[in-house]
Amino acid sequence: MTGRLLKGLLAVVAFSLCGLLMGIAATSDSTAPQSASKTTFYKDVLPILQNNCQSCHRAGEVAPMALMTYDDARPWAVAIKAAVLTQKMPPWYADPQYGHFSNERKLSTQDIKTLVTWVNGGAQPGDPKDAPAPVKFVDGWNIGTPDKVIEMPVAYNVPAEGTVDYQYMVIPAGFAQDTWVRAAEVRPGNRALVHHVIAFIRSPESQWMRDAKPGEFFVPKKTEQDDSAKKSDKSDKSDKKDDESANSNPEKQQTSNEPRRQRRRGEIGDLLVGYAPGIQPLDLTSDQAKLIKAGSDIVLQLHYTANGTAGADKTKIGLIFAKQPPRLRNVTIGASNPSFKIPPNDGNYEVKSQVRLEETVTLADLMPHMHFRGKDFLYQVIYPDGRTETLLSVPKYDFNWQLGYTLEKPLVLPKGTRIECTAHFDNSVNNPYNPDPNKEVKWGDQTWEEMMIGWFSVAVDPKASTAGLVKFEKPGTRTPPDQPDTKAGGVASGTSGGSNTGSTR
Ligand code: HEC
Repeated sequence: MTGRLLKGLLAVVAFSLCGLLMGIAATSDSTAPQSASKTTFYKDVLPILQNNCQSCHRAGEVAPMALMTYDDARPWAVAIKAAVLTQKMPPWYADPQYGHFSNERKLSTQDIKTLVTWVNGGAQPGDPKDAPAPVKFVDGWNIGTPDKVIEMPVAYNVPAEGTVDYQYMVIPAGFAQDTWVRAAEVRPGNRALVHHVIAFIRSPESQWMRDAKPGEFFVPKKTEQDDSAKKSDKSDKSDKKDDESANSNPEKQQTSNEPRRQRRRGEIGDLLVGYAPGIQPLDLTSDQAKLIKAGSDIVLQLHYTANGTAGADKTKIGLIFAKQPPRLRNVTIGASNPSFKIPPNDGNYEVKSQVRLEETVTLADLMPHMHFRGKDFLYQVIYPDGRTETLLSVPKYDFNWQLGYTLEKPLVLPKGTRIECTAHFDNSVNNPYNPDPNKEVKWGDQTWEEMMIGWFSVAVDPKASTAGLVKFEKPGTRTPPDQPDTKAGGVASGTSGGSNTGSTR
């Protein structure tokens, strides 16, 4: 009885929905040609391209073609429709269920509709008088005209073929005074050959890469890597890896040679800015800045990939200074796990990493990093009271788009909070990027090896030392932070009870 009634009701609903849809179809049909022809490039489409596409789609930027003018865009009309309907463009990978990000790249439903209507209506130009004023881009930079440019003094010659070891170059930053940087951008000299660049800040007291002559290319010695690998129980992390994640695992830094031990005692080396396809430049809110101490160096890590044609690269970095000392210092830390072994043909291998905050900090942004086998990445925080919150979920990680996610509202995380990252790797034949599903895969620099780093930036008191800001923990550790911890020698004080032994979900 009720079943039939329900079916009847459903039929009525379906029928009226149908009518409704037909009605819509009918009305839009009768107006379609008109409204489509009314939707023009200059009036409707150009503003959308300006706001959402031209940062990448203009000469000298990451996209292969410009979308600045009607003539630029017209041949791409059909491709534009497809790219926005599938949400391939603009590139953005965060699951909208979690978090709000100030650098979100997403078209509104209305904008998608406008683009599609324009294409369906024959991609009409319309009247150039309707065009908005062109956006004023600073040629060669997305951060605006830099206050200072630091450039490699010599070019690197990338061969036509073969694997190029990560190259490092120490460049004196040239500051006689402590300098606060609000924005920074890496500009590769040759995008076709540069896979990625990371610029680290090396403070004067740091011994990291002291063997390297400033201004010359440097590859950390293989023997050193082997030695440290042998000494380390997690034997699969190379020396070079330490460099990429200079702050990501002090435990490992301790196990190897003297320079690194010294580095650990001092301030941690900060990551200034990175370049990889899709990465947005560092562009901090007005109350935050990165500190480059007087006498510091910039250490560039350069990953070149041969592409069949030899060529040279001279990468540079642009800096914009903070107008005044900031309220908060921005420091980037990596929660990495270097000790995984992904079995051959495993399509969903889980790797976790975890840090515990030893101070109360403000979380500013997140950037997951994996290589070709990276499948998904999740950031969660576990508060001292046991509450768990998902900050970012990237359900379909794409190695080609190394995106950073800036929290719309910076999040205060009390001392004792844990940041837990969970990644999955697809080492199966179903992963089209997988270079070899039959291989066991460990940590390594090259893209056919893997990495697992949950980079995150925190904002802290500018006067506070950043040494010991976080503690690197075994994933899954849930000891209450305010109870004595045999390993860390934590401070015993009043406990909050046994409620914080696990996550809430
Ligand atoms: C962050 C940089 C970036 C932004 C923003 C961006 N694009 Fe792209 N776009 C690229 C890159 C890089 C490629 C080439 C690589 C690729 O296809 O993934 C591309 C490719 C394309 C293609 C070719 C797709 C294909 O299947 O061959 C179209 C069409 C396109 N973009 C349209 C747009 C439109 C429209 C917007 C704005 C709504 C936009 N893009 C925003 C970087 C960007």
